[in-house]
Amino acid sequence: MRRELAHRVALSLTISLAAILITRSLIIEMEIKELYDQVSNLKREITVVRMAIPSLRSLAEKCGIYIGAAVERSLLDIPDYVYTLKQEFNMLTTENALKFGPVHPEPNVYSFSDADYIISFAESNGMKVRGHTLVWHQQLPAWVTQGRYTREEWMNILREHIMTVVGRYRGRIYAWDVVNEAINDDGTLRDTIWLRGIGPEYIELAFRWAHEADPQALLFYNDYGAEGLGVKSDAVYNLVKNLLDKGVPIHGVGLQMHISLENPPNPQEVAANIRRLNELGLEVHITEMDVRIRTPARWEDLVKQAEIYREILKVCLSAENCKAFVMWGFTDRYSWIPSHFSGYGSALIFDETYKPKPAYYYLVAVFLEYLTRK
Ligand code: XIL
Repeated sequence: MRRELAHRVALSLTISLAAILITRSLIIEMEIKELYDQVSNLKREITVVRMAIPSLRSLAEKCGIYIGAAVERSLLDIPDYVYTLKQEFNMLTTENALKFGPVHPEPNVYSFSDADYIISFAESNGMKVRGHTLVWHQQLPAWVTQGRYTREEWMNILREHIMTVVGRYRGRIYAWDVVNEAINDDGTLRDTIWLRGIGPEYIELAFRWAHEADPQALLFYNDYGAEGLGVKSDAVYNLVKNLLDKGVPIHGVGLQMHISLENPPNPQEVAANIRRLNELGLEVHITEMDVRIRTPARWEDLVKQAEIYREILKVCLSAENCKAFVMWGFTDRYSWIPSHFSGYGSALIFDETYKPKPAYYYLVAVFLEYLTRK
């Protein structure tokens, strides 16, 4: 009798436990389904919102400036990369293809295929090209760095290089970075192979030859760390002013804008710098912007980064001579930062899966605000 009772109690306990377990798993299943539905709805909402947001390219066009990115030939074979590039940009810079080493590897050998491809791509997609760069102290071929030449020979080498490269794309390159990074942080002229071989005149000669080879192209002096006010930007200012005084064909200054989250330039100083260049009659392009972050980047870092991008675009839009806003790439999937600044990354406006980051939306917002105020 007692055993039968114990049996019944055990059985009903088992049944209740089973019922509880089944109910619990049903509830969990319902919750999962609900969560899944919410995620799908959110994804749909994001897609609709993204579709409703005008592209950077269309906004920049309305504001009368170019928006660009540096590109590599090999990446133009990647469909997602090409899709975003065409959608968002109306200017591109040859990141490496036109540098001396890659394009002129041996004394009488030029390798134009990558640059040809990039420039045709730009033309078929209605984009302007910034040619980068004719005279620099880096990415030079061994025959230049290891050669021993007289001054006359150095001048012939540089002249022939510029005439050939600029001449090949005559009428097709909107702006050239003729001389890149010729000034040290303390404002003195950088000790380069060109300075040693030719003397300080190499700078004006380069501009004169580039102009001779393509009279239509806008010719720029390009540098980093000369965005705001200080010894280096004063030196850049004095250099270009002297060139203009001598009648050298120079049309603009490129502010590279490779900056870090911790040390962005002061926007008012950048504005003042652009203004004094305007008084000389020069254009300014933001030529290589990226804002590197210590990795892994936190959400609040991305928002701070967005604010920096926003301030620089604001400065550019409010300056009458700032005509282009170019970034050194556009997706964190392909950026020079991680390999050149250890511990840093996440410097661009799209993430590694081509999703817009906060910086992208802040740039859109700056353009929209500018257009509604106009
Ligand atoms: C960088 C390229 O992005 C890298 O791929 C290459 O290995 C080194 O040069 N300032 C310039 C650019 O003017 O040419 C540099 O580009 C980045 C710094």
